Amino acid sequence: MRDWHPAVAAAEPSQKAERDPAAPLFGGVYRERFERILGRYPTKRAALLPVLHLAQEVRGWLAPETMTRVAELLDLTPAQVRAVASFYTMFNLKPVGSYLVQVCTNIACDLCGAGKVLERFLSETGTEPGAISADGRYTVVETECLGACGFATAVLINDRFYESVTPENVPALLAELP
Ligand code: FES
Repeated sequence: MRDWHPAVAAAEPSQKAERDPAAPLFGGVYRERFERILGRYPTKRAALLPVLHLAQEVRGWLAPETMTRVAELLDLTPAQVRAVASFYTMFNLKPVGSYLVQVCTNIACDLCGAGKVLERFLSETGTEPGAISADGRYTVVETECLGACGFATAVLINDRFYESVTPENVPALLAELP
C-alpha cells in the first residue's frame, strides 16, 4: 500500500498537461470561463489574478505577448500586468514542462528529508532544477511552504497536492501521472 496520497480534490481542471502557447485568449470553453470570472468582480482590473491563472492554464506560461493580450482584455497596460505577474511565484515567466513539480523544501519538509525527495524527482526525470526534461514532460523546482507542514514532504504537481512523499515513492507517483 502506498503511504503518500493526493491531498484533496484538485482545482479545475485536474492535472491538465496539454497546453498551447499559441492558443487564443480566450476561445471556446475558456471564453465562458473568462466571462464568468469577470462576472465575479466589480471591475475588469480586479479580475487580473484569476485571468492570469486562466491564461497560464491555456498557454502554460506567461510570455510577454500573453501579458499584453491580458492587458488588452482588462483595459490595463502591459506594464501593470507584468508588475503583478512577476510578483507572484505561481506565475511561470518562462516555459515549463507539461508537469511542473514543485517540491517544498521549507523548514518542516526540509527536516523530514525534502532534499532527498527533490533529488529523486530530478534523477527520475533526468533534469536539472528549473529546466525542462528532454521529453518535455517535467520541470522540477523547489518551492516555499505549501501549507501542508504536518504532512511533509509536500509536493505540488500542476494543480494537485501530494502529501507525505518520500524518495522511495517518487517513481510510482510519476508513473500515475496521465
Ligand atoms: S514546510 Fe513544507 S509544507 Fe510547510
